[in-house]
Amino acid sequence: MTIEKITPPRIRSFVRRKGRVTPGQHFALENHAQHYCLDPQQEIDFENVFGRAAPLIVEIGFGNGDSLAKMAAENPDKNYLGIEVHRAGVGHLLMLIEAQQLTNIRIYCHDAIEILEQRVPNESLAGVHLFFPDPWHKKKHYKRRIVRDSFVELLARKLATNGYFHAATDWENYAEWMLEILNRAAEFKNISATQTYCERPDYRPLTKFEQRGIRLGHGVWDVMFAKQ
Ligand SMILES: C[S@@+](CC[C@H](N)C(=O)[O-])C[C@H]1O[C@@H](n2cnc3c(N)ncnc32)[C@H](O)[C@@H]1O
Repeated sequence: MTIEKITPPRIRSFVRRKGRVTPGQHFALENHAQHYCLDPQQEIDFENVFGRAAPLIVEIGFGNGDSLAKMAAENPDKNYLGIEVHRAGVGHLLMLIEAQQLTNIRIYCHDAIEILEQRVPNESLAGVHLFFPDPWHKKKHYKRRIVRDSFVELLARKLATNGYFHAATDWENYAEWMLEILNRAAEFKNISATQTYCERPDYRPLTKFEQRGIRLGHGVWDVMFAKQ
């Protein structure tokens, strides 16, 4: 008798929200997705898709895409791959791409872990951004946090040497958690001079949510590590 190995389902970092899709987002999803959204089921050659070779930056969980669109507009020399499971957010980003005629963004509406594992070649990324990931505040939900040892191992495989991982969070406990997990990964070194947190680099736009937080005296922690 052979006993099949049973792999337990992976604990995901998101819950699919229904969320209202506005008419504008719906129009964008219907009419523009075919130009910018990639099929998670298909093999891909990113240079071919972008029509050029350029440093490739992945943003995981871009939300409504405001920051991603701004970064892509300000850095036309880089290619950006946004990955988000929330359809309304993808629709919003498609509207921004069309309105600004951005040519350097492509999107997956899918679980970022699966895309990184299955579609992104090893040692191919110049950077990975993770801005304000779901903090999963309650202790019993910590296991849902996207930053965990297996995630850091995945990053180490996908980033090129000297590629960077940049996360930002407004939840101090999650910032400490990230430092602890990244510090024990031999492939990464902390970019911060204090070996803790960095100042927000200019390329990361300040979001409305963050501006409000700053007014209310809340903190934001930027965590940056380079792959060595
Ligand atoms: C708290 S929101 C932050 C959104 C945005 N980065 C911002 O700063 O406003 C976190 C986002 O990450 C997305 N997300 C979480 N896990 C994900 C995963 N494994 N793959 C793709 N998206 C994910 C969620 O759908 C959500 O939109």
